[in-house]
Amino acid sequence: MLSRDQELAVCADLIGRFTGVLQSPRTTAVPTEFDSMWDELRGAVDGQGDATRAIDLLRRMPRNSADPGAPMYVGYVPDAALPLARAVDGFLSAVNAVAAGRIDGQAFVQAEYAAADKIGELAGFPADTRGGTFVQGGTLANFCAMAVARERWRRRNRYLGSPVVIGTRLAHSSLKVAARLLDLRFVPVSVTRSGAVDTGALAAAVRTYGPRIAAIIGNAGTTTAGSIDPLDAMGELANACGAWFHVDGAYGGAVIVSERHRGLLTGISLADSFVVDPHKWLFCPYDSSLLLYRNAGEVHKELKVFSQTHDTGAQYLDFGYRHTPVDTGPDQLPLEHGDLALQLSRRPRGVVLWALLAAFGTGGLGSFVDATIDAVSHLHEYALRRGVEVPLPPRLSVLLLGHEAWLYDRDWDEYWVRPAFEKGFFVSTDAWEGKPVGRLCLVNPFADAGDLEPLIDLVADWPS
Ligand SMILES: Cc1ncc(COP(=O)(O)O)c(C=O)c1O
Repeated sequence: MLSRDQELAVCADLIGRFTGVLQSPRTTAVPTEFDSMWDELRGAVDGQGDATRAIDLLRRMPRNSADPGAPMYVGYVPDAALPLARAVDGFLSAVNAVAAGRIDGQAFVQAEYAAADKIGELAGFPADTRGGTFVQGGTLANFCAMAVARERWRRRNRYLGSPVVIGTRLAHSSLKVAARLLDLRFVPVSVTRSGAVDTGALAAAVRTYGPRIAAIIGNAGTTTAGSIDPLDAMGELANACGAWFHVDGAYGGAVIVSERHRGLLTGISLADSFVVDPHKWLFCPYDSSLLLYRNAGEVHKELKVFSQTHDTGAQYLDFGYRHTPVDTGPDQLPLEHGDLALQLSRRPRGVVLWALLAAFGTGGLGSFVDATIDAVSHLHEYALRRGVEVPLPPRLSVLLLGHEAWLYDRDWDEYWVRPAFEKGFFVSTDAWEGKPVGRLCLVNPFADAGDLEPLIDLVADWPS
C-alpha cells in the first residue's frame, strides 16, 4: 500500500519529466517498439500494487504508440498539439477541473464559453443567440447536432412520416451512423469532381423530399480530400425548405481562424450548427470538439433535447440551476453544458482552446494553419515536378497521390505504406473515385515540407 507521502514523491518524479516531454515531444511518428505490452500491463493490475513498476510501464507506453504530433505523422487527420496546450490540459487534470455546471466550475465554464463565443463570432453567428459546448470528438458532436435537427423536425412535422437528412456521399461516416441511430434516412447526393456537393442534385433532392427533410449537411473539409461544399448555396436551400443546416468542419473548420483562408467557409453564418475539432487542426490535445449553435437558446429552452433536470427525474440537478453563480454570459444564459449536448460530468477541455486563443491570438493560430497549407502546396508542386499523379489539387492540407498501375490497396500497402513506415513516416491510404490513393494530411505547422518529399519520391521512383 502506497502512503500519501510516497504517492506524492512518485507524482513529483513524474511531473519533473514533463518539461523534457514538452520541450521535445516524440519525434518518431511510428512506434519504436512494436512488441505488445499486454502481458506486463495485465499482470500489473493483478498484484498488490507497485508504483515503481506502474510508472515504468506508463513511461514505456509512448514508445509503443504512434505520435500524431510528430512532423513525420501525416496519416489520417493527425493532432499536433502545441506544448502550451498540452501543459494547460495537464493543469486542468491536476486541479481536477469540472465543467458539468457553473456552480462547481464557473471560471472554467466561462472560459469555455469565451472560446466558443469567439469562434461563433468568426463564423458570423448573432452575438445574442450563439452558444456552444465542447464534447469528446467530432463523432459525438455530429450525433448531437443530428439529434437536435430531428427533434426540431419532429415537433413541427410529426404527421409527415419518417424524416430524411441530405448530405453528400463524402459526408463523414459519423453522420451516417448518427442518422442510423436516430432513425433518420440518410439521402446521399452526388458530388462534382472537386468533391463538393452538386448543387443541382441537391436542389432536385430538396424538391423530392420537401418537408420531410430534417437536416441538410454541409462539409467544411471532407476527411479524404478536404473538399468544401458551397455552404452559402446549401444554407439558402436549407433555410428555404425549413431544414436544419449542419456544417461538419471537424477538420477543415479550423480555417475559421485564418484571415487568409476564412473565405473558404463563405456561408457558414447560415448554419444552425457547426462542428470544429480543436484536437484536429487547432493545436489542442485529444480530446476536444466544439459544437456551436447559431441559436443555443432554441436548443436548451425550446427543444430541451438534452435536458436532464426534473423532467427526467434528476431533481438533484435542479440545485445547480437554482444556486448557480451570477450570470455574466450572453443573453441565453443561464445554461449548463449538459443543455447543449449529450453529456453531464466532464472536464473543461475547451479551456485549452481558450488558453491558445488568449496566448497566441486568433492571428497566431491562423498563421499556424496558413503554414500547413503552404507546406502542402509546396508538396503538391513537388509531386507535379516529379510527374506524380495528383487526382485533385489540394484544397486544405490534404494531398492525394495516385498511380495508374496501382489498382489494389495491397499495392499501396506494399509499395508505399511499408517503405514509408520503415523510413519513420506515418502515412495512410484512402480511395478517390473508386481507386486507392496515397494520402498525406498535414496539421503540424513546424513540419518542414522538404522533409516530406521522400514520400513523393517513393511514388515517383517505383519501378514500373
Ligand atoms: C470531417 C470529419 N468529421 C468528423 C470526424 C470524426 O471526428 P472524431 O474522430 O473526433 O470523432 C472526422 C474525423 O476525422 C472528420 O474528418
